[in-house]
Amino acid sequence: MLSARSARLAVFASGNGSNFEALASAASRGELGGDLVAVLSDNPQAFALERARRHGIEALTPPTGRFRSRLEDETPWLDALRERRIDVVLLAGFMRRLHAPLLDAFAGRMLNIHPSLLPSFPGLDAIGQAWRHGVRVTGCTVHLVEDALDAGPIVAQATVEVLGDDTQDSLEARMHAAEHRLYPAAVRRYLTEPFRLDGRRLVFGAAEAARG
Ligand code: GAR
Repeated sequence: MLSARSARLAVFASGNGSNFEALASAASRGELGGDLVAVLSDNPQAFALERARRHGIEALTPPTGRFRSRLEDETPWLDALRERRIDVVLLAGFMRRLHAPLLDAFAGRMLNIHPSLLPSFPGLDAIGQAWRHGVRVTGCTVHLVEDALDAGPIVAQATVEVLGDDTQDSLEARMHAAEHRLYPAAVRRYLTEPFRLDGRRLVFGAAEAARG
């Protein structure tokens, strides 16, 4: 739990933004536990930016620099967050690895959603990785972001069964539906319930948090 006042949230998204949409819908129903203030994208064509505008949420494209897999200079991104007094960053399909200074400034205050049961299948095309591996159960994970690929203390997970008549497409559709339920609920819990970290374990509960 962060503070008594409503947390100010920013979303980082690179593409379609269906997870942003789920977060924005929850926020507009007053169910997110915080206020969505801005969407930042590394891709000016990202549909997530259009979705943000439709929700009346500020849409920003800070500079990315020369590299494809990371931001060359994170300072303008950090400045944009500071100018808007952002408390928590929510990664929602943001496809670049982050480093200092963003990770340092938002340590413990940055969440990500990943479409696998981490630590299985980190990285790109996680649903395809799980499908090709032949798993019987997969799912999605919301976790705190640390300086490693799709890793960090787990806030919430949801399972998705792989059915006998599934195709990769039908599995993907159920995975996205599961993500859209999980992410807003996980954000709300993270923002509104006390928790502590016990090693890698994120433990919710007032008594537990007081002991930590
Ligand atoms: C989602 O499935 C999200 O979990 C995944 O990208 C997709 C974005 O969809 N993120 C990752 O793979 C991060 N490693 P969206 O743009 O429609 O929200």
